[in-house]
Formats: sequence, C-alpha cells, structure tokens
Amino acid sequence: MPMSKSFQERLFPALPKIIEYFGTPFHIFDEQGIIDTGEVLKRNFKDVIGFREYYAVKALPNPTILKIMRKLGFGLDCSSASELTLGRLNGFHGEDIMFSSNDTSTELFNIAMADGGCILNLDDISMIDKVPEFPKLICFRYNPGERRTGNQIIGIPVEAKYGLRHDQIVDGYRMAIKRGAKRFGLHTMIVSNERNYLYMVETVRMLIEVMEMVSQALGIKFEFFNISGGVGIPYRPEDRPFDMPALAKEAKKLIDGFQHKYGYSPKLFTECGRYMTGPHGALVMTAINRMSKYREYVGVNAATMSANPRPAMYETAYHHITVLDPAGNPRRGNEETVDVVGPLCENNDKFAKQRLLPKVEIGDIIVQHDTGAHSPAMGGNYNGWTRPQELLLHTDGSVELIRRAETMDDLFATFNFKPKVLKKP
Ligand SMILES: Cc1ncc(COP(=O)(O)O)c(C=O)c1O
Repeated sequence: MPMSKSFQERLFPALPKIIEYFGTPFHIFDEQGIIDTGEVLKRNFKDVIGFREYYAVKALPNPTILKIMRKLGFGLDCSSASELTLGRLNGFHGEDIMFSSNDTSTELFNIAMADGGCILNLDDISMIDKVPEFPKLICFRYNPGERRTGNQIIGIPVEAKYGLRHDQIVDGYRMAIKRGAKRFGLHTMIVSNERNYLYMVETVRMLIEVMEMVSQALGIKFEFFNISGGVGIPYRPEDRPFDMPALAKEAKKLIDGFQHKYGYSPKLFTECGRYMTGPHGALVMTAINRMSKYREYVGVNAATMSANPRPAMYETAYHHITVLDPAGNPRRGNEETVDVVGPLCENNDKFAKQRLLPKVEIGDIIVQHDTGAHSPAMGGNYNGWTRPQELLLHTDGSVELIRRAETMDDLFATFNFKPKVLKKP
C-alpha cells in the first residue's frame, strides 16, 4: 500500500487549508510516520547487539528531517562534502557519520577527516594511499563480483563502479593495517528498492563469510558490518512490504553463529534511506490544464525534473496518484486513462503514463504518493524550473515550511561573479 492510511487520513482533510496558506506545489513529509518507522526499525533489531541505522542523507537532505533522525538515535550515511557539512551542522559528529564516497579526491578526504572525522568507508584499494591522515577505524566497501548478483535495479556487481574486488579485500585490510588502522568494519550494497528480505539475508551471510576470511588471513576482529540501504517500499497498491522482522530474525541467527565460533559479535549497521522516509512524503500539485491530443492529458503546476524526476528517469518507477476535489474530498468513479504531465519542454515530463484516474477537473488537487526519498533530492533545474517548497506535517497537526521554494534569483546567483578572463596564453 503506498502512503499509509494514517498519513492520508491526517493530510487529505487538511489540504485545502494548507494549500490556501502555502500554495501549491509542495512536498509534505509526515513527522509521525518517520518517527514510527524509526521506532519500529529499532524494535525489530532490539536483540541484535549494537544495531544502528545510518540514515542515507541523499534520500532527503533536509536539516529538519536529519534532526528527527538524530532524535531517533540514528547516525548518517554521507557521500559528499555537502552531505557531511549538512550532517555536522545538525549535530552529527565523528562516528555518527559513515562516509561512503567513491572516485574520491584528496580534498574530499581532508574534509571527511576534519571536524572530528567520521567512519571512513573506502571504495577502492587505490584510495588507501591517498587518505592523507589514515584513521584508526577503517571500513571497506566490498564488491562480490561474479560470486553474488544484486537485484536488477542496482545492476550486476561486476559492472558496478563500487567497492573492492573479492581478490583485493584481504590486501585492502593488510595495507590499512600498515597505515596504522586498528579498528575495522565491512560494507556492501548490492540491491536497490528490493522488497524481498531474502536478498538482505544473503547480504548478511556474504559479509559474515568475508569477515571470517579476512579475520583468518590477518587475525583481526571486526567491530561492525554494514548492509547499507536498498530496502524497497510498496510504491504500487498491490506491492507487499519488506519483511523487516524476518530480516532481523535471520540476521540475529547468523550473527549468533559467528559469536559461537569466534567469541564476539560484530555490530550490524544499516543505511536505509527510502525505507525510512520514502512512504512519508507526498507531492501536492494543482491540475491547471485538461488537454486532448492523441491521448488525454492532465497538466499540473509542477515539473517532474525539479519536483520528482523518478517517473521521468526510470521506466519502471511508479508513484501512486490520488485526485481530490478542491474541498479535499477524494474523487471516485467516472474513471479515464490519462497522462499526468508537467510544463517541461521534454516529452518524459510525465508524473504518470496511461494511468486510470477518476475524472480530473481543473483546480483539483493531485497528490503524488511516496516522494519522501530520492524525489525532491534528485530534482534539477532543466528548462529553468525550480524546486518546490518542502513542508512538514508535525505530530501535533501543525504544518511548517522546512525548505522554501527555489527562486529564479537562486538560479541566476551563479551568474553573479567577478569578471575573470584568461588572456590568450
Ligand atoms: C552507500 C549507500 N547507502 C545507502 C543508500 C540508500 O539507499 P536506499 O535509499 O535505497 O535505502 C544508498 C543509495 O544510493 C547508497 O549508495
């Protein structure tokens, strides 16, 4: 089921007033839903010693959302200088931050290791010598290559640009020890938007095998292993949710097995982005045009590329849509097949293709579900369209602006600079 019933019940009746106050378009996020998901995640893993979630900032890089994650006791997964800065400005420091960059510059390593550092997750064996001041705690991202396949979305591991090869992983830790590392972690990510928990159980099993292999070769102990993100959510009404309790139960069994053999348990970390916030966001737009061409079109006042590029970028991406009349009542019946489109000069600018919806009238409220992860975060400015405002529906029912809409001035700010010309060299 996309977007929880509880979120719909609290949001839909309030929409006419919210729209009157803030105008459309906007993304609105559900504080209660995010907190509940975080608490349930912690409860699911309560028997897995040292379990910690590191929320993937890239899913929804908003300071207010990050503060909710901090209150939940979570850390952050960052992969760029801006994400590190946003995390640090919002109270995440040192080992609260797992830094998984790739194709990393020396400058970026310096930023990562400044301000109390982070847990550095190296993505390539060649990076070991490039870290200016090598930390005591080091983690490597592992790529299983031919040994295991990920799901289709993230691709085939041998074709992925991430991680150390299987035959490089022992050498990676050996070289890290030479550079002074004393504490160790292991990381991988081989699925994306996967709702079958068995894939993640396989990831746990695989990382345990790798930790055993490295420990036996080098006599080191692992403090943690990180199965990262990739947990899917039910975007379509018929989709079944990911079985997190089953993953927690199976992961505990495997970790207990490790404990039995080696006398200690490495901690289990996750980096869920989509699972934490995906279902707790919605994009609210207004229908501004009805157009009849070879197909029937509903035109809305937002553009996919700036508001939610997922349906335009990925052929398989589906976001459910609810149509409400201007008074906030869901429209029912009288269905027709339409494309829901934005104003971009780009034929992919479709929030929905050939979707059966109740008949939409101009002025109706169009709610696109599940935009809480990788939606506004992926937005760009093609055609000069700007990103919509972001609102938070608080637990007490109040609604707060947590990011203003981008303006044309924001776009043109990069044309404001001191003239600079290199005369013919
Ligand atoms: C290293 C890493 N961790 C975590 C995530 C979060 O993934 P998801 O939002 O699918 O859980 C990503 C997504 O790209 C990632 O690259």
